[in-house]
Amino acid sequence: MSAKIIDGKAFAADVRARVAKQVAALKAAHGITPGLAVVLVGEDPASQVYVRSKGKQTVEAGMASFEHKLAADTPEAELLALIDRLNADPAVNGVLVQLPVPDHIDEAKVLAAIDPAKDVDGFHISNVGLLATGQKAMVPCTPLGCLMLLRDLHGDLSGMEAVVIGRSNIVGKPMAQLLLRDSCTVTVAHSRTRTLPEVVRRADIVVAAVGRPEMVTGDWIKPGATVIDVGINRLAPAETGGKGRLVGDVHFSSAAQVAGAITPVPGGVGPMTIACLLANTLTATARANGLLEPEGLTA
Ligand code: GUN
Repeated sequence: MSAKIIDGKAFAADVRARVAKQVAALKAAHGITPGLAVVLVGEDPASQVYVRSKGKQTVEAGMASFEHKLAADTPEAELLALIDRLNADPAVNGVLVQLPVPDHIDEAKVLAAIDPAKDVDGFHISNVGLLATGQKAMVPCTPLGCLMLLRDLHGDLSGMEAVVIGRSNIVGKPMAQLLLRDSCTVTVAHSRTRTLPEVVRRADIVVAAVGRPEMVTGDWIKPGATVIDVGINRLAPAETGGKGRLVGDVHFSSAAQVAGAITPVPGGVGPMTIACLLANTLTATARANGLLEPEGLTA
């Protein structure tokens, strides 16, 4: 069997186009322009790339982008004061602090300072609690993107066996909550799970978010299963003939022979994250103004 390759790049472009259309409608009908503020502390090269991309795609969707770049040695109090100002700014509907923050800054304190209604990352403890109790929350972008791909492929996920590999606050845990909310039978596995291949083999849906390059191989996959690979790992140049190739947490070529559908790396889940950030910014704007939820762009 050869799996259907899920085109996350095309799907993300479609999500962005739908967001842009609804942003235009919001402007025309209500004179509202959604605004997203992104805060970057320090000069981590990967974070700089992400932040630049977020700003560019925000503007392309017709939203206002506010970028705040702070020096690596910015005191925590200064960052918290900026968050307070963004929370109070009516032109700002979404606030995102790029992670990781430097060691002298308490990440939990920073995330707790963001107004939950503007928490487009869905990392605030009250959004985590709302999601876990099945209430209307802001949902973390990467798991939301995975859910959109799965719903597009399967429609109703009810009754499916889902195995999430990885238990991070950013992906694994919220992914499990979302699948549970869609009535899957959910197992959260991780690096310490015994007989991991056996556990994964019972899944109709596998979401790999464990951060181990090519760990999930084809012999772990139930024939016909859907495999969503959240991993982005750069192999050492020596292993790949000098190029430092990007791979996921799934061994693509072997898994693609067994799976029914699979996301590639790159071009699978990756592009969905920023598309869902834009969707979340639109959702936050709609909720702040008492308007209808954007259709098909929320969990
Ligand atoms: N760093 C890596 N992924 C993310 C994300 O989804 N949100 C934020 N704020 N920082 C990140």
